[in-house]
Amino acid sequence: MISKKKITSFQSLIWNHYKLHGRSMPWRGEKDSYKVLVSEIMLQQTQVSRVLIKYKEFLKAFPTLKKLSKSSLGDVLKAWQGLGYNRRARFLHTFAKEVVANHNGKIPQEREVLLTLPGIGKATAGSLSAFAFNLPVPFIETNIRRVYIHHFFKNKADVTDAEILPLVVQTLDIVSPREWYYALMDYGSVVSKKIVNPNRKSKHYTKQSKFEGSNREVRGAILKIAMKEEALTKVKLIKLLAFEQKRIETALAGLLAEGLMVEKKGGIVLP
Ligand code: ADE
Repeated sequence: MISKKKITSFQSLIWNHYKLHGRSMPWRGEKDSYKVLVSEIMLQQTQVSRVLIKYKEFLKAFPTLKKLSKSSLGDVLKAWQGLGYNRRARFLHTFAKEVVANHNGKIPQEREVLLTLPGIGKATAGSLSAFAFNLPVPFIETNIRRVYIHHFFKNKADVTDAEILPLVVQTLDIVSPREWYYALMDYGSVVSKKIVNPNRKSKHYTKQSKFEGSNREVRGAILKIAMKEEALTKVKLIKLLAFEQKRIETALAGLLAEGLMVEKKGGIVLP
């Protein structure tokens, strides 16, 4: 347990920073849980600046969960184009279908129920509960982890989330959890810019892999072509892309296995 004094001084630091430098974002204060869901899935692996444009475009194409649930995965992938980590688009699509089929079209509020839905890990279940429903649930994601390591683990390496979680619980503002987590994330975003990223001291730290030369790069290029080309075959794909044949084959096999592309009448198409 940490002392009451330490809790209060930490909370004041975070709130004061928020009062002066809190960021405004289109999904903040949003009460429509579907819109919050879209933003949180997009923000999972993508920077805020890149999400801003795609978020608006995506909601224009799919304004409601119901509309999304009735769309083809191909159309969802088209709207996702440019954000990367396309698996997220499929999760979002399956999530919408499942909520419509099994939850009356209403996104569940409880973290435990959210965790059973596609694409929802511990961090997103927590962030959805907090941001969409203002529930005081403790959770850790990359910005939050950074804040606690920076503040409470100044001289320690290999910090585990199990060590951080009790601090998140003790410092959580149970009156305004939604706002509290906005404030924590904003503080986390400056902590990362000012000094060496504290998350390097997290036992759970993994650097996002370089895009160039990665499988993600080839997957993205294949999907981009599939969105334009009508009659696409593997042979044509290899001709059109400047990557090594082996890389194309590996990436394509992955896309087919995950259902992000499908084989149809001898060709390959979006689902
Ligand atoms: N505000 C609401 N959700 C956020 C997130 N995931 N990252 C940064 N700021 C946010």
